[in-house]
Formats: sequence, C-alpha cells, structure tokens
Amino acid sequence: MALYSDKVMDHFTNPRNVGKIENADGVGEVGNARCGDIMKIYLEVDENQIITDVKFNTFGCASAIASSSMATTLIKGKPISEALELTNKAVVEALEGLPPVKVHCSVLAEEAIKAAIKDYYDRNGIEYDPEQFKEKHIEE
Ligand code: FES
Repeated sequence: MALYSDKVMDHFTNPRNVGKIENADGVGEVGNARCGDIMKIYLEVDENQIITDVKFNTFGCASAIASSSMATTLIKGKPISEALELTNKAVVEALEGLPPVKVHCSVLAEEAIKAAIKDYYDRNGIEYDPEQFKEKHIEE
C-alpha cells in the first residue's frame, strides 16, 4: 500500500486556501515542538459568525500541508460553532487516512483552527469555555 492516500497527495501537491488574510478576524498559530512544524490559520468571520474565508500558511511536512488544506475546506462557509467541533480524526478521515506517525500533523490543523477561533472570541469579547481550547495529547 502506498504510504499516502490519493487525497493526501492531492491536497499536498495542490493545496487549497493557501495564503494570508489581511485584517483577519481571527489568527491562530501553533507548532509541534518535536518536529518543528508550524501552522498558521487566518479566519474571516461575518456578523452571523459564519466563516466566510479561511487561509493557511504551513511550514511543515506533506501531511501537515494536506491536513491544513483539507481542514480549511471543511470549515469554509460554516458557522464558528461547527468549526469548533472539527476534530483531527475528521480531517484524517477526509484525507482517507494518514500513517500513524503522521497523525500529529492533523492534530496541528485542529489546534490551529481552534487557536484562530479563540483569537476571534478574544478580540470580540465573546465568552467561551476554556475547556474547549485545551491542548490535545495523542499517542503515537
Ligand atoms: Fe510534524 Fe508533520 S511531521 S506536523
């Protein structure tokens, strides 16, 4: 079996939503200390808390790029409340799997989106449960 699914290869070689949003409504940056990869997510949110645009910049491995690309497609046009529920597992499933040692790359995507949403909440004085933004620890 190939190491990476066709979906991973597609999103790695042709990533969606790459870039930066000037004057974004929320920005989240996370990194993995072990591999050194960094992911940054920019959100544009309208008055109804719908994510009207999302962009990412990832300095990392193929799985990190594919995960951020897939994650952005999954939350674009969705309400913030739905984006908050996006798990790394859903990203892995949408990518049709990642090798076990690469699962942490999808966790980075989940965390970057959550960090951007938290930033959006903070900027707008919106109350939230801090438990929602706890770091995730995975076994590998
Ligand atoms: Fe660390 Fe992919 S190897 S994010």
